[in-house]
Amino acid sequence: MSVIAIQSKLRDYTVHFQNDVSFIEGFTRFPQRLFVIDENVWKLHGTGCLAALADSERIIFPVSEERKNLVGVMELYDRLMECSAKKNMTLISIGGGIIQDITGFVASTLYRGLNWVFVPTTLLAQADSCIGSKTSLNYKRFKNLIGTFYPPSEVYIFSGFLQTLEKYDFLSGMGEVAKLHIMGGNDSISAFAVALPALLGRDDDAILLAIHRSLMVKLSYMEGDEFDTGRRNWLNYGHCFGHALETVSDYAIPHGQAVVVGMLVANRVAVQRGLLSEVFAQRLAEQFLGPLLDFKLELSGYSMVEFITAMRQDKKRVGDGLVMVMVTDAIVMVKVDDVTPEEIEMAVQSFS
Ligand SMILES: NC(=O)c1ccc[n+]([C@@H]2O[C@H](COP(=O)([O-])OP(=O)(O)OC[C@H]3O[C@@H](n4cnc5c(N)ncnc54)[C@H](O)[C@@H]3O)[C@@H](O)[C@H]2O)c1
Ligand SMILES: [Zn+2]
Repeated sequence: MSVIAIQSKLRDYTVHFQNDVSFIEGFTRFPQRLFVIDENVWKLHGTGCLAALADSERIIFPVSEERKNLVGVMELYDRLMECSAKKNMTLISIGGGIIQDITGFVASTLYRGLNWVFVPTTLLAQADSCIGSKTSLNYKRFKNLIGTFYPPSEVYIFSGFLQTLEKYDFLSGMGEVAKLHIMGGNDSISAFAVALPALLGRDDDAILLAIHRSLMVKLSYMEGDEFDTGRRNWLNYGHCFGHALETVSDYAIPHGQAVVVGMLVANRVAVQRGLLSEVFAQRLAEQFLGPLLDFKLELSGYSMVEFITAMRQDKKRVGDGLVMVMVTDAIVMVKVDDVTPEEIEMAVQSFS
């Protein structure tokens, strides 16, 4: 199966696409290895895909946003010390974005860096977060405020894990897949529109193709900007309003779903500014984004003041205005940093 080789200033790494889970047996090449596995994944796959790990040294870790912080990290440090973790150990994590963030942070800090292998098991982690080197922890009520840049040395993608994902988590991942396909240009937009029914039916081949394309698009935006100071910022399309919606909904709306709404709102602002045509915005809304929403889009129940306050707290904002990444008809991304609360309000009102 195919491999994507990624060059990083931190260390080069590889993403391996797999047809089955035989790669797990290959982990015996790491003499000192310790698995950290998402508790739900272990419950669902411990006697199936992951049966080869029955006798392996492992930590089964329950995940939640409330544990994706320094307390969760300290818990994991303690567990690793109980397992006599040494500098030459390889940490192998199996799970979604939360397991990735906690174990990645631990791997980057314990003994100033452990070898780390990641097996993503959610669509969001397979199609988006597994590359890009970021580890992120929540601090108090601030999401992803603390973090490091630390790539795993190897990533293994087996789409069979996705069959057991709850619909809610699957659609959340689809939000990021849609974002990356839009950012990939006209060909990937058309490919996504054609593949959408198969993707929603969780067809393995369609999913693998979409994951591969998503990662290649993400990679193209990271090129030359690994540490997110310029071009990579455009990947924040849908995230400026999306993060605010996550905060205001008290995280009841999962990340990728909030990103879908964020793209719809960003597109409305882009139409108002003459950056995007009404026709293209409608096409994106009807063919791409609308079908991915797991709930009826109704923003009038939220407070506009809270949206604006949350957008002002965006950790990437440096000036006075509100920041938003938008897409144009020519699929050129633009980052606008003088968006006004009135523009957001007008866009939000169109979803009331
Ligand atoms: N570091 C990064 O670059 C980056 C990028 C995007 C998002 N994130 C973070 O990732 C997190 C979201 O990731 P996520 O959507 O993968 O969520 P997650 O890790 O919380 O997983 C979602 C749910 O799915 C369960 N699960 C995992 N694999 C499963 C499977 N195969 N079958 C059934 N259930 C399974 C988990 O136990 C959890 O309940 C957020 O905390 C977000 O901030 C990080
Ligand atoms: Zn995201």
